[in-house]
Amino acid sequence: MAEAVKQAEKSAPERPVVVSAVGLTKVFRDFWNRPKAKAVNDIDFEVREGEVVGLLGPNGSGKSTTVKMLLGLLYPTGGRLTVFGKSPRDVENKKLIGYLPEETYLYKYLTAFETLDFFASLFGLSKEERTRRCDQLLDMVGLAHARNRPVGEFSKGMARRIGLAQAMINDPAFLILDEPTSGLDPLGCREVKDLIKLLKKRGKTVIVTSHLLSDVEEVCDRIIVLYGGRIRANGGMEDLLTIRASDTITVPRLPEDALERIRQIVRESVPDGEMSVAHPHMSLEDFFVDIVNEAKKESLETSGSRSGGAIAEYLTGDREHDAKVVLDSLTREEETPARTLAKKMEEDAAKAEEEAAKKRQDELFAKLQAAAPAPEEEKSRQEQQEIAAKMSEANRKLKDLLTNPTDRKD
Ligand SMILES: Nc1ncnc2c1ncn2[C@@H]1O[C@H](COP(=O)(O)OP(=O)(O)OP(=O)(O)O)[C@@H](O)[C@H]1O
Ligand SMILES: [Mg+2]
Repeated sequence: MAEAVKQAEKSAPERPVVVSAVGLTKVFRDFWNRPKAKAVNDIDFEVREGEVVGLLGPNGSGKSTTVKMLLGLLYPTGGRLTVFGKSPRDVENKKLIGYLPEETYLYKYLTAFETLDFFASLFGLSKEERTRRCDQLLDMVGLAHARNRPVGEFSKGMARRIGLAQAMINDPAFLILDEPTSGLDPLGCREVKDLIKLLKKRGKTVIVTSHLLSDVEEVCDRIIVLYGGRIRANGGMEDLLTIRASDTITVPRLPEDALERIRQIVRESVPDGEMSVAHPHMSLEDFFVDIVNEAKKESLETSGSRSGGAIAEYLTGDREHDAKVVLDSLTREEETPARTLAKKMEEDAAKAEEEAAKKRQDELFAKLQAAAPAPEEEKSRQEQQEIAAKMSEANRKLKDLLTNPTDRKD
């Protein structure tokens, strides 16, 4: 491993090794087998049972590639990688691992429950056990109210939650969560973090990838920082992040004279040291979550006084109607004068086109009628032709008589 790598003491060294990577390398090649990207470049790391390890790094640093090798979805180009002491491709491992992919692929026509039930069935669980687990998981990830909604209708955050539930369906000993908080609102992020803490309490081993540092900071025992496929730092959060050159003392608000006395003591003890006194800050996330929780509590009280009617209505709502309302609202266009004029012009053009078509149709009909007269008409026309012929014959004879009276034979 490179010397620049900041290596802190590994936590929980006495526990069994779950993941061991030595010189792990992955080179992606192009069509002509030429090296295209060295996604993971000779990395060494270990993950031990019960640890929550954060795999951090900017975009393209090799996090997902590492994760895919752990799952046996990608073959390493070099090095040695074992998971539970076996090859990542070992079938036995599949039962022990839960995976939340970077992008959750869901069958959009299945409901939340059916989705989980489908994944549960892949693990050969009985019907009762599947139903029990699915309901518990839906409750756990905050989707119990959306149990029967097709996942195709889900928001990004909801899809992430169902993905998380899916990763836990087989109650795996080792969870690999690739960007679990991506697409989640701060409240969702908080819930995922709480969930990871809960998993840790239950003795699970977890690898979380993220570039949202605050997410990782709160839940991970250890972080591995990747950059350009190489490990830049690997160690316990405490060891890596503690600034040992300073101290922070948090006390209740002090009167000015007490503060001055403390300043005096510090000046005497560290004459050249810089000192600052400030009020501690709460994080923006805590602030946001407090506000939303407060608002939620108020609405809960309101719905409580209505005996939870609102929730029952939502759950038993007509799904097709709901979907249509959502679709209509998404496709509805705002009325503007220009749009109204355009609409009128379109209507006029359609009307003119309709009239022209009708005229053409009438003309065609008339021609067809003329070409194929009715039998009675045909008969009377023949009679008329015969009469006309007789009349013309009579006229001719009369003309002959008048012009050549001498030629008269009778
Ligand atoms: N299938 C692939 N074919 C070719 N190159 C790939 C492939 N998958 C990943 N890479 C390359 O490997 C490098 C690491 O990618 P990877 O997806 O592991 O990064 P990441 O750390 O997960 O990034 P992000 O934070 O964006 O998810 C990138 O340069 C990427 O372009
Ligand atoms: Mg990734």
